[in-house]
Amino acid sequence: MPRLVSPSLLSADFLNLERDVEMLNQSQADWLHLDIMDGVFVPNISFGLPIVESISKKAKKPLDVHLMIVDPDRYVEAFKKAGADILTVHYEACNHLHRTIQYIKSYGMKAAVSLNPHTTINLLENIITELDMVLLMSVNPGFGGQKFIPQTTTKVKQLKDLIKATNSSALIQVDGGVDQTNAKALFEAGADCLVAGSYVFKSDDPFKAIETLKNS
Ligand code: DX5
Ligand code: ZN
Repeated sequence: MPRLVSPSLLSADFLNLERDVEMLNQSQADWLHLDIMDGVFVPNISFGLPIVESISKKAKKPLDVHLMIVDPDRYVEAFKKAGADILTVHYEACNHLHRTIQYIKSYGMKAAVSLNPHTTINLLENIITELDMVLLMSVNPGFGGQKFIPQTTTKVKQLKDLIKATNSSALIQVDGGVDQTNAKALFEAGADCLVAGSYVFKSDDPFKAIETLKNS
């Protein structure tokens, strides 16, 4: 299975965003992870469509857009136009998740669902075969730099079992507090893609940090 790394630009230097996107272009990163927060679903506001559009003009890799917003259907078309390749919505933010997933796919994007730390894997039983990816939050969403919740590793295994049992082709992504101390265990448990914000951007050598995660 591929070992993918998707650095989160939430921890980038917003005054030097072009430099940081160029760094990711040159690095071993597979995707660019963009965190969109509305101040309602999560207690923080990050950045919106104009920033995503600007990043898409410079990025040479797929844009992996993580929507932490209520009622995300309202913005599916806008994020497609802004350059999103993968669109992740939260299970907890969708009343009609099946419809939302079909809607994302109708725009030619990969469709993913994220679960908060308290949300159980079995809630995906009736949707897992429709998904391109599941994002397991390993912190409560809203902020970079939080501590990894260790129970996530067990959730990765449970999700892997569900994916195998249903013949789903969904990838498993983990987001929050990922660093060199937990990356290996997450990949071994079945994760396909690790998101990392502060571990990459607060590092003295972001290239090396990305390489370390990829080779965990
Ligand atoms: C948190 C975001 C994450 C965040 C991860 O709500 O979804 O993508 O940027 O940051 P770190 O890796 O610092 O926990
Ligand atoms: Zn994220």
